[in-house]
Amino acid sequence: MSTTEAQPKAAVGLAGVTVGDTRICAVNQTQLLYRGYEIADLAAHATFEEVAYLLLEGEKPTPAELRTFTQEVAALRPIPEGLKALLREIAGVPPGAHPMAILRTGVSYLSHFDPDAEDNSPAAGLRKAKRLLAQIPTLIGYGQMVRDKKDPVEPDPSLDHAAHALWCMTGVKPDELNAKVMDLSLVLYAEHDFNASTFAGRVIASTEADMHSAVCGGIGALKGPLHGGANEKAMQMLMLIDTHLKGGGSIDEWMQQAFAEKRKLMGFGHRVYKQGDHRAGILRESGLKIAQKQGPDSMKWFDIGDRVQQIMLEQKNIHPNVDFPCGMTYYVMGIPVDQYTPLFVVSRITGWCAHILEQHADNRIIRPLASYAGAGLRQWGDT
Ligand SMILES: CC(C)(COP(=O)(O)OP(=O)(O)OC[C@H]1O[C@@H](n2cnc3c(N)ncnc32)[C@H](O)[C@@H]1OP(=O)(O)O)[C@@H](O)C(=O)NCCC(=O)NCCS
Repeated sequence: MSTTEAQPKAAVGLAGVTVGDTRICAVNQTQLLYRGYEIADLAAHATFEEVAYLLLEGEKPTPAELRTFTQEVAALRPIPEGLKALLREIAGVPPGAHPMAILRTGVSYLSHFDPDAEDNSPAAGLRKAKRLLAQIPTLIGYGQMVRDKKDPVEPDPSLDHAAHALWCMTGVKPDELNAKVMDLSLVLYAEHDFNASTFAGRVIASTEADMHSAVCGGIGALKGPLHGGANEKAMQMLMLIDTHLKGGGSIDEWMQQAFAEKRKLMGFGHRVYKQGDHRAGILRESGLKIAQKQGPDSMKWFDIGDRVQQIMLEQKNIHPNVDFPCGMTYYVMGIPVDQYTPLFVVSRITGWCAHILEQHADNRIIRPLASYAGAGLRQWGDT
């Protein structure tokens, strides 16, 4: 091809480009639907297990189907001894590995123990999805307990998915409110059509690579602060503002400085939602209940957050996304800040796997074009 040939203009960041069909989720300015069900409806009436079933199996479960699914997944929670040894090793050398990096390694390791690892059939895909759903909280929790120099706990099949994640991470059974709010956050995080991590997973799946490879790619994409990593960064930003307040400054002053330096505020903005993220208000309201119960030290974060939100809206017309209230909510629940994005994976694994199954079921390799912007045609010669 001649480099002088006219090139179609690229859509930077694929903004506004539709790249495929999906039956799993619809995202637009006014709605977020999981398989036709509105997110507010699911948040009010469905548990995470029900949502996981809906996404993976395609329909709302009957009570009997839900019971079977829940028992089946709960029984798959234990992780291999080799993975436990690896997690203990990672915690020791080198110190300071990010839990998302540990999770990425752990999921890759799990693939070697999965009897269906290289089988991309729908039945094998569903079995792998259930194993990943079950094992990821155990993996994350084991890593956290090792990091805290505590004895890791055994998986408890009597706990639901949200409570089990907290149990594995702390060795303490959460109270009803904490378990309920965690469950809600998992419902809200479960699926979001062609977001960066899901799209990354679908690209990998489209080469006919296996589910674990696609999930590892999804974890890598989610880790970034412009995507899932934003929930951690949002809380770190609130902590910086709090330090500024303790030094006698004000929130308004801190914000003006951030605007002057053209810094992005984490937990704000969205590629699709320009009039607000449907999930943000729902999660804030629930997180606030925990803060109210705990008192002023916890309420402080919501007060700071509300003022930040107000200034962003008034001065930039930018709304918070779900990661903003998530940061505060997980903080008042006592979860270590760098475990917020791994907890996102505890939920989004369902959406990712549903998309990988959908991609494998009707596949054409995803291979877009690039608009060449390099040097013109030149001669190498023979000297
Ligand atoms: C989510 C995000 C990556 C979307 O990026 P995008 O679609 O390319 O952003 P937009 O095109 O909507 O940005 C429009 C304008 O708003 C600004 N903007 C968007 N998000 C902003 C933020 N969080 N803080 C400050 N300014 C922001 C952009 O810089 C841009 O300004 P410009 O026109 O002067 O260049 C972006 O909003 C962001 O980085 N947010 C912070 C990280 C985050 O919370 N991610 C989680 C997403 S769920």
